[in-house]
Amino acid sequence: MPIFNSPSLILSLLAGLSTAAATASTSRGWEFVQNGTSGILAIEMTIVSPTLALLYDLSGTGAPLQINNHSAWGALYDLETNKVAPIDVKSDTFCASGAILSNGSMVSVGGNWIPGFSTGSNGLQGLRIFEPCKTSDGHGCTLFDNPATVHLAVPRWYPSSARLYDGSLIIAGGSLNFSLFYNEFPENSFEFFPKKDHGAVRPSPFLKRGGPANMFPRIFALPDGTVYMLAGNQSIIYNVDTGKETRLPDLPNGVKATNPFDGTAQLLPLSPPNYTPEVLVCGGSDKSDLIPPIKLSSQDPASHQCSRITLTPAGIKKGWVVERMPEARMLPEMLILPTGELIIINGGQTGYSAFSSNLTSISDPVGNSNSDNPNFTPTLYDPNAPVGQRMIKKGLPASKIPRMYHSTVSLTPSGNFMIAGSNPNLNVNTTVKYATEFRVEHLNPPYMSLERPVLSHVPSKVAFNTQFSVQINLPKGAGIFPTVKVALMDLGFSSHAFHSSARLVYLDAKLDSDHKTLHITSPPNNRVYPPGIGYIYVTVADTYVSKGAQVMIGSGASPPVPDQGKKISFETIN
Ligand SMILES: *[C@@H]1O[C@H](CO)[C@@H](O)[C@H](O)[C@H]1NC(C)=O
Ligand SMILES: *[C@@H]1O[C@H](CO)[C@@H](O)[C@H](O)[C@H]1NC(C)=O
Ligand SMILES: *[C@@H]1O[C@H](CO)[C@@H](O)[C@H](O)[C@H]1NC(C)=O
Ligand SMILES: *[C@@H]1O[C@H](CO)[C@@H](O)[C@H](O)[C@H]1NC(C)=O
Ligand SMILES: *[C@@H]1O[C@H](CO)[C@@H](O)[C@H](O)[C@H]1NC(C)=O
Ligand SMILES: *[C@@H]1O[C@H](CO)[C@@H](O)[C@H](O)[C@H]1NC(C)=O
Ligand SMILES: *[C@@H]1O[C@H](CO)[C@@H](O)[C@H](O)[C@H]1NC(C)=O
Repeated sequence: MPIFNSPSLILSLLAGLSTAAATASTSRGWEFVQNGTSGILAIEMTIVSPTLALLYDLSGTGAPLQINNHSAWGALYDLETNKVAPIDVKSDTFCASGAILSNGSMVSVGGNWIPGFSTGSNGLQGLRIFEPCKTSDGHGCTLFDNPATVHLAVPRWYPSSARLYDGSLIIAGGSLNFSLFYNEFPENSFEFFPKKDHGAVRPSPFLKRGGPANMFPRIFALPDGTVYMLAGNQSIIYNVDTGKETRLPDLPNGVKATNPFDGTAQLLPLSPPNYTPEVLVCGGSDKSDLIPPIKLSSQDPASHQCSRITLTPAGIKKGWVVERMPEARMLPEMLILPTGELIIINGGQTGYSAFSSNLTSISDPVGNSNSDNPNFTPTLYDPNAPVGQRMIKKGLPASKIPRMYHSTVSLTPSGNFMIAGSNPNLNVNTTVKYATEFRVEHLNPPYMSLERPVLSHVPSKVAFNTQFSVQINLPKGAGIFPTVKVALMDLGFSSHAFHSSARLVYLDAKLDSDHKTLHITSPPNNRVYPPGIGYIYVTVADTYVSKGAQVMIGSGASPPVPDQGKKISFETIN
């Protein structure tokens, strides 16, 4: 149901939005719409085709969606019909990670199980491959999950993963076994899929330095092929080829932003010709990670802090620039819009990640939740505005649904955000405060209720550093020769307040004098955009946004793939 329906209110809201022009008077503005249920708990969510989101859960929770006479822990959510269908998973996907390879297969890594509770098999070394799916409703799609033949080198619960420049995955950190709050059994190492180093793991001094709140490290493939990583308040640039870790300044003011002190992080949009990388880290906690859980409170304030750094020698010398969110956030998620702004959404204003149980508890869980005071209203972040004016609250609606621990969100191919989950409980619990949440919501940006530019003749595969054309039907309100911005986006993988592999790369583009043909240049090479699936969204006159068209960027070959396209020189950091 639209939150705002008074025309005068809508107009005043639109006036405050940086993306809205005067012509946008028919937009309903930002709105939350609730429709559909997830059937399982959406602990992990990733878009696997133009019409499908893949969801994973813990097995044995008692979720209503059934397969083979038991609760499912994997499901495909149809974005067109808002219907969910179970998939048959063997190993338990509890708190796993994942990403899509250069050949379009979606790989899920790690997990766990609870003996006597889980109906799945031990997922600690799980590695599941969801093959690219051609049917719009997911019929006939296949998941390969055979732990006896394909698995991780070591057990990993709460790892992270990201697609690299050669189309393979780096898998970072996690816990060897049950860690009930802090990382008690740290697996402070990296590994790869497909394997590098004959399958040996690479120990990481950085992950060790990140301390006991280093789970779900925030990692991004940078445009020169290196990897940015954050754990606790420590951050580095990692050179995959040499194994060298180059230390960056600590996050300021004692703030830590990885699990169980979950803030969130995002690589800001990359623009030609320099593709200068900037990282933004928001929320988390400035409490010491030496305090035992029982001395922590669900009412401890989370951090308001956002910290931003430019990853060039000069930017690193300057260090982190600190900004302040209008609200404190534990467990937020941060996603890029096709327009280049970011939405900071979900989480709680106080407390910590995870849930309390008879095995570990903070001093005062609310129900079983370690976090309280949910953030119902998102904040928009405009990375191009001056410091102090980047946080936009005006026009953003409030949801009625708390989304804290084990909630997820993703940009969809249609251009809105799908939001699911929240369960600060072990199993399905409908009676407690902060009960298991199955309702799916969409957050619609203002462009969703405007006329959409329509793309056609989009090639299904594009090589690096080449020119290609698409047809565009411009909206009537867009003017005679409007500006066009072409965004190539990886929609990423959502879990535990982190959207891994998410990326926006702007492509050089020119509207032909026929007003119908867009001439676009693909990303210069496989380091600026790691080879694999992308979605192309076109923003017209800074106001109208097309749906995303799925394109395979690169050859679509299985990893590892060789370097392709033209070299770009970056000032050396690592
Ligand atoms: C599910 O349970 C029903 C009733 O107990 C039984 O008849 C059926 O064979 C079971 N199906 C499967 C796939 O195990
Ligand atoms: C929910 O989604 C379905 C499928 O897209 C649609 O038919 C239905 O009208 C929607 N209901 C609401 C209340 O938006
Ligand atoms: C994990 O912990 C359980 C319970 O303590 C133990 O039975 C199991 O062997 C451990 N697994 C690993 C891989 O260490
Ligand atoms: C980072 O964390 C470590 C360990 O908790 C602490 O000693 C250090 O002061 C922190 N750095 C900053 C800049 O707050
Ligand atoms: C803790 O809770 C679990 C799940 O509710 C239960 O099976 C177990 O017996 C409890 N353990 C203790 C020590 O109370
Ligand atoms: C729900 O959580 C409450 C609070 O911990 C607990 O008392 C209750 O047994 C739980 N219900 C289920 C079905 O696990
Ligand atoms: C992609 O590559 C992986 C790793 O080699 C492989 O397991 C998977 O089957 C491949 N998928 C396709 C569609 O070729």
